[in-house]
Amino acid sequence: LTIDGPSGSGKGTISRRVASELGWHYLDSGALYRAIGVAAGWADLDLADPAALVRCAFDTRIGFEERSVEGRPGTELRVLVNGLDATDELRTETAGAAASAIAAVAEVRSALKDRQRAFRRGPGLVADGRDMGTVIFPDARWKVFLTASPEERAERRYKQLKDKGVSVTLDDLLREILARDARDANRAVAPLRPAEDAVHIDTTGLGIDAVVERVLALVRPA
Ligand code: C5P
Repeated sequence: LTIDGPSGSGKGTISRRVASELGWHYLDSGALYRAIGVAAGWADLDLADPAALVRCAFDTRIGFEERSVEGRPGTELRVLVNGLDATDELRTETAGAAASAIAAVAEVRSALKDRQRAFRRGPGLVADGRDMGTVIFPDARWKVFLTASPEERAERRYKQLKDKGVSVTLDDLLREILARDARDANRAVAPLRPAEDAVHIDTTGLGIDAVVERVLALVRPA
């Protein structure tokens, strides 16, 4: 099952929930691009130097691990970059912006292709990203394209960041979201667009449960 859509459409939350309901594996492909972005930052690489980024994409070790986190109950999915837990750093706007710049380099995208395809395993995989249904898993059995109005996506992001104590303005977030949309939709390689056979779900005004129900209804019809 592929779930694609712009940032803030709720892909991550929905995909994780659907994967857990189905007992399937989960691929957060954005985390791979973010991980390369973070590793490039650690190595002080120039984001405008494609050759350095491609080397970085090949050399960076990226792992996903269920781990317990100090002070929090149970375990959670953590992302290890070159062996270090970078989960929190990956979620920052800086990492997102670096990921989006790096994701525009064709050779970086091909370097990550096989890594992504290796996640395909029984009993099933929920793959979350921008080009899961169009490029990485064009033969997926089910494809979903999630959208939401830019205002609602900015609002969601605003709430998330405020809960974390990060101070931002709604206007700035809306501007960033529109800029990132434009970059992701207009780039020459794997631009963000729905697969022809994707089911579109507009999540504006819908709660998480309602969206999860709609996606599950596709996979296991009543
Ligand atoms: O989904 P997330 O916000 O974590 O993705 C970060 C960035 O990585 C996106 O803005 C996009 O440019 C890039 N990306 C991509 N293809 C994917 C997943 C993410 O180009 N499959």
